[in-house]
Amino acid sequence: MKATGEDSPGELLDEQIAYYRAIAPEYEEHALPFSGGAEVSEALDAFRPTGSVLELACGPGTWTPQLLRHATDVTAVDASPEMIAIASARAASNRVRFVSADLFQWRPDRRYDVVFFGFWLSHVPADRFASFWSLVADCLKPDGRVFFVDDGYRTADELIEGERSATIQRRLNDGTAYRIVKVPLQPADLERQLARIGWRISVHSTSGPFFWGAGGRSHT
Ligand SMILES: C[S@@+](CC[C@H](N)C(=O)[O-])C[C@H]1O[C@@H](n2cnc3c(N)ncnc32)[C@H](O)[C@@H]1O
Repeated sequence: MKATGEDSPGELLDEQIAYYRAIAPEYEEHALPFSGGAEVSEALDAFRPTGSVLELACGPGTWTPQLLRHATDVTAVDASPEMIAIASARAASNRVRFVSADLFQWRPDRRYDVVFFGFWLSHVPADRFASFWSLVADCLKPDGRVFFVDDGYRTADELIEGERSATIQRRLNDGTAYRIVKVPLQPADLERQLARIGWRISVHSTSGPFFWGAGGRSHT
């Protein structure tokens, strides 16, 4: 909620957390009004996230119940206790463990068969992309798999620093403004970027702005 361009990248990431904490009760009211969600859901079922699954940035548990249909157990991490409270009610199960933590600080205490993240990667600044994927690698067992869903969609009124900037503005229903990161990721570029840092992940478009990726480490 500060004037643009006057603070550090860390402050922007703190403001992003503050935005998601504040928006938690009305999160679903801000869902993108596009098709493609069912395609992603089908793709996730076809991927079969079995075994021990780590869900990063779980939010209000949008995907946690679907993960639980396949997984033995799910560890779901998010920086917002408000989101976690909603997720715990939605995905109440003794097979889920919720962890409240900042993913730019958090380190895993074990390894998982699958790492999943929904609508998170586009909120990771470009200069933290490689270190985020290095965290994902540290979370995975050998031959562990990754599935993610996202979009690179930004509206004209969100682009307060212009189209070339990844900093955008979002508002709560009461009009309060926050700056967050939204990288306009594109499936083909993303696939190439991942290949360059040692991942073999196929990124698939849907009929709407959503895309999903599935794969693992390249074994060269
Ligand atoms: C766009 S929401 C996605 C939520 C959910 N995965 C979904 O698909 O609906 C982004 C989530 O990232 C969380 N988040 C933001 N910054 C974070 C950080 N630094 N560490 C962990 N979670 C963070 C927010 O609290 C929010 O729940």
